[in-house]
Amino acid sequence: MPTALITGGAGFIGSHLSQKLLGDGWQVTVLDNLDPFYDVALKRRNVEELAAAGGARFRFVEGDLRDAGACREAVAGAGTVVHLAALAGVRPSIADPIRYWDVNLVGTQTLLQAIEDPGVRFVFGSSSSVYGGNTKVPFAESDRVDRPISPYAASKKAGEVQCYTWHHLRGNATTCLRFFTVYGPRQRPEMAIHQFARRITDGQAIPFFGDGSSRRDYTYVEDIVSGVVAAMGRTQGYAIYNLGGSATTTLTELVQHLERALGLPARLERLPDQAGDVPVTYADVSLAERELGYRCSTPIADGIDRFCAWYRAEKAAGRIP
Ligand SMILES: NC(=O)c1ccc[n+]([C@@H]2O[C@H](COP(=O)([O-])OP(=O)(O)OC[C@H]3O[C@@H](n4cnc5c(N)ncnc54)[C@H](O)[C@@H]3O)[C@@H](O)[C@H]2O)c1
Repeated sequence: MPTALITGGAGFIGSHLSQKLLGDGWQVTVLDNLDPFYDVALKRRNVEELAAAGGARFRFVEGDLRDAGACREAVAGAGTVVHLAALAGVRPSIADPIRYWDVNLVGTQTLLQAIEDPGVRFVFGSSSSVYGGNTKVPFAESDRVDRPISPYAASKKAGEVQCYTWHHLRGNATTCLRFFTVYGPRQRPEMAIHQFARRITDGQAIPFFGDGSSRRDYTYVEDIVSGVVAAMGRTQGYAIYNLGGSATTTLTELVQHLERALGLPARLERLPDQAGDVPVTYADVSLAERELGYRCSTPIADGIDRFCAWYRAEKAAGRIP
C-alpha cells in the first residue's frame, strides 16, 4: 500500500489532498499542530473527516514541524512526504516576519532532517508569490525569483532553496510546486474569495484594494490536488513547477462572479493598494503539462459556483460563520 505523510494536512489544501489519497487507497499520516491562524475547529473537523474516511489507514500526529521528535514520528513509514504545513498569507507575514521565518524555514529544515531514507520522495508546497513584482507574464519557472516582496514570499523562495540543498546532500527525489491562489471548499477564511463571500452574504462592505484591475491566477483546489498527486510520482532529481489556472481574473471580475453565484450585490470599501500585494499573478503551466501531465480543468466561473454552493451549505448548517 502506498504511504504518505502530509504536513499541514488539517488545513485547506492538505485536507483535500489527504482525502484524495485515502480515497485512492493510500495510507496517510498527517502532521499538523492545529495552528490558531484561523479557527481551529475547522481544522479539527477536517481531521475528524479524514479519520472517518481512512479508518486504520489514517494517522494523525498533532505536533509542530519545528519539533524533531514529532517530525521523526510522522515521517516513519512514509514513502512520500508532501510538505504543506506553513504559516501562509502575505499581509500577516509583514507584521510578524520572524515567526514566519521560524515556522517556514526552521520547520522545513527540521522536517527535511527527519527524512533519513534517500528513497523517500519529497514534494514542497511553494507559492506564486516567489515571482514578486515581476511584470513579464505569464510567469515561467525559468524567470528571475530573487526579489520577493513580502516575508512570506521570501520564506517560500528560501524553502525551495533549502529543498534543493537537501536534495543535493541526500539525493531524495524533490519537487517544488508553485501554487497560484488556490480556492474551493474549506478555503482559509481570511483569503479573498472566502472573506468576500462572507461579507457579501452578511451585507458588509468588502475591502477593495486599488482600482480593481489587479489580476490573479486562481486555481481550483481539485486541480491543485491532481498536480500534487502527479508530482508525488516523480522518482528522481529536483524540479520546480507552476501549478496554476493559466488565466487571470481581475479583482472587479472576481467580485462580479461572487455576486452572480451568491445572487447578492457587493458593497465595496475602496482602499489603496496594500504593501506586499503583487499587481498580477499568471502561471505558465506548460512545463507541468509536459512533464507531469497537469491540466487545469476548472474555469473560474464553475469553481466560484462550487465554492459558493459549499459556502452556503456550511453556513446554513452553522458550521462556518
Ligand atoms: N492557499 C493558497 O492559495 C496557497 C498558495 C500558494 C501556496 N500555498 C501553500 O500551500 C500550503 C497550504 O496552504 P493552505 O492554504 O492549505 O493553508 P492552511 O493554513 O489551511 O494549511 C497549513 C496548515 O499548516 C499547519 N501548520 C502551521 N504551522 C505549523 C507548524 N509549526 N507545525 C505543524 N503544522 C503547522 C496549520 O495548522 C494548517 O493546518 C502552505 O504551505 C501555503 O504556503 C497556498
